[in-house]
Amino acid sequence: MRAKLIVGNWKMNGSRATNVTLLKDIVAGLDGARAGCAVCVPAPFLQQCEEVLAGTPVAWGAQDVSIHAFGAYTGEVCAQMLAEFGCRYVIVGHSERRAYHREDSALVAQKALAVLAAGMTPIVCVGETLEEREAGATAQAVGAQLDAVLEALDTAAVARIVVAYEPVWAIGTGMNATPAMAQDVHAQLRAQLKARNADAAEVVPILYGGSMKPENAKDLLAQPDIDGGLIGGAALKAEDFLAIIRAA
Ligand code: PGA
Repeated sequence: MRAKLIVGNWKMNGSRATNVTLLKDIVAGLDGARAGCAVCVPAPFLQQCEEVLAGTPVAWGAQDVSIHAFGAYTGEVCAQMLAEFGCRYVIVGHSERRAYHREDSALVAQKALAVLAAGMTPIVCVGETLEEREAGATAQAVGAQLDAVLEALDTAAVARIVVAYEPVWAIGTGMNATPAMAQDVHAQLRAQLKARNADAAEVVPILYGGSMKPENAKDLLAQPDIDGGLIGGAALKAEDFLAIIRAA
């Protein structure tokens, strides 16, 4: 069975002062929880994560990465730099990056490759917009997003990614996909992984994201192909994040 994985996506939130309390409360509250867990934080806080979380069961990571390795790319952060701060995960292709920074699936695939080349795990986000869902185009939209990444990877590397299904209409809105809706998409994503690498499909965690909260986590996480969560808002409160980890 795949171990469950709960990842917090802090987005552009946090401060040096408040992070310490949040991180320490998470560590203190884990209390033998079975699920793996991690926090993906703004890059300036990675050193602080390393200081507070090293040696604890909580891993940490970043929310984006450059496709380039060093050089004249003002404002960018490369995968080697993230690896230097002990990151295990890097989120790539979050819908906020796709929407606000016009990242397309080809770029997301390059980012996933950069993360893997630096020895970290990309969390590859896919998800349909409300228009796509209403037009019955969910399978096609998420299918194309995942395929773009899978096609860029060699077969063995497929086993080294994490996938996150995040319906865009559910992110930060309080509306979540029902467990059955999410399971449908997760099963499709699993089948796509299987078509590239059958063994990998058994081990790659597929996380659900989009208003996962303590109240709905248990039912979502009970679905056979939902292996964890990518948590935005609820990851900013230790109590809520811990409740989700315990539900896993
Ligand atoms: P949310 O965000 O939990 O606040 O909906 C999830 C995400 O964007 O990763």
